[in-house]
Amino acid sequence: MGIGIRKPKFELKTPEQFARMREAGLVVADALEQVRVAVAPGVRTIELDEIAEAVIRGAGATPSFLGYHGYPASICVSVNSEVVHGIPGARVLEDGDLVSIDCGAIVDGWHGDAALSVPVGEISAEVADLSAVTEGALWAGLRAAKAGNHIGDIGAAVKQYVREQDHSFGIVVDYVGHGIGSSMHMPPNVPNIGNPGKGPEIVVGMALAVEPMITLGSAEVDVLADDWTVVTQDGRPAAHWEHTVAITANGPVVTTAADGGLAGLSPV
Ligand code: MF3
Ligand code: CO
Repeated sequence: MGIGIRKPKFELKTPEQFARMREAGLVVADALEQVRVAVAPGVRTIELDEIAEAVIRGAGATPSFLGYHGYPASICVSVNSEVVHGIPGARVLEDGDLVSIDCGAIVDGWHGDAALSVPVGEISAEVADLSAVTEGALWAGLRAAKAGNHIGDIGAAVKQYVREQDHSFGIVVDYVGHGIGSSMHMPPNVPNIGNPGKGPEIVVGMALAVEPMITLGSAEVDVLADDWTVVTQDGRPAAHWEHTVAITANGPVVTTAADGGLAGLSPV
C-alpha cells in the first residue's frame, strides 16, 4: 500500500465531451419524438424502427443499439406485458396497447439513451396512470441526480414517488439504470430502489441513465426465448421511461430532453 494518485472509479466527462453527449441526446430526443407521433393502431413495430434509424442516420449519428451484443435493431419496442428490450418486427399495434420505445445514439463516440411509453389509440385509465406514474418517477429520480447526492438517493426518490402515487405498482429491480458516456452501459448501476445517502457519491463529470420500469402487478420478470424480450411473469402491463442526465459544473442537464430538463427538474 503506497500513496498514489486516486483514479476515479467512474468516467468523468469534460465540458467538451458533455457537449457531444448533448448532441447525441438531442438526436435521441428527435428520433423518439418522430416515433411517438407515428404510433397508431395498425402500425407495425418494425416501421417505428425504420423511422428512428432514419432520424439518427440523417443527423449523422450512429444507432447504438444496432449490433450491441448482437441486438438486431435501432430501437427496442416493448408492448404491454413486455417491459424492455422488445425486438421490432411484424407485430401490429392495436388500440389500447401501451408501447415503450427505447433509443440510443452515438455522436463522435459519445452516447445518449432515453425511452418513453406511448399510448396506442384509446388506453384504459389504469394503464394511462401506470405510464404517468413511471414518467413522474423518472423525473423524481432525475431531480435527485445532482452533485453531492449519492446513487441511492435516485432509487429512493423513484421508489418514494411510486409509493406516494400507488401502493400496488411493481418496481422492477432485475434491470437498472447505468452510467453512460463513451459506452452506453458503464458503472455505476443506478437501481430504481435505494437508500438515501448510500452508494457512490454523484460528482461533476458523471453522466447517468435513469430508467424506472414499473408494472401494474408483480415486479417479477422473465426473458423470452429470443433472449432479449423482458416480460412480466404475470402478463400485466409495464411502462418504461428513461433519460440521460449529465452532472455538469453548472448543474444537471438532461441531454435527451429537448429543453435540457428545465421544466422537469424544477417544476413550478
Ligand atoms: N437502452 C437500453 C437501456 O436502457 C439498452 C438496450 S440494449 C439493446 O439500457 F441491445 F437493445 F441495445
Ligand atoms: Co439505458
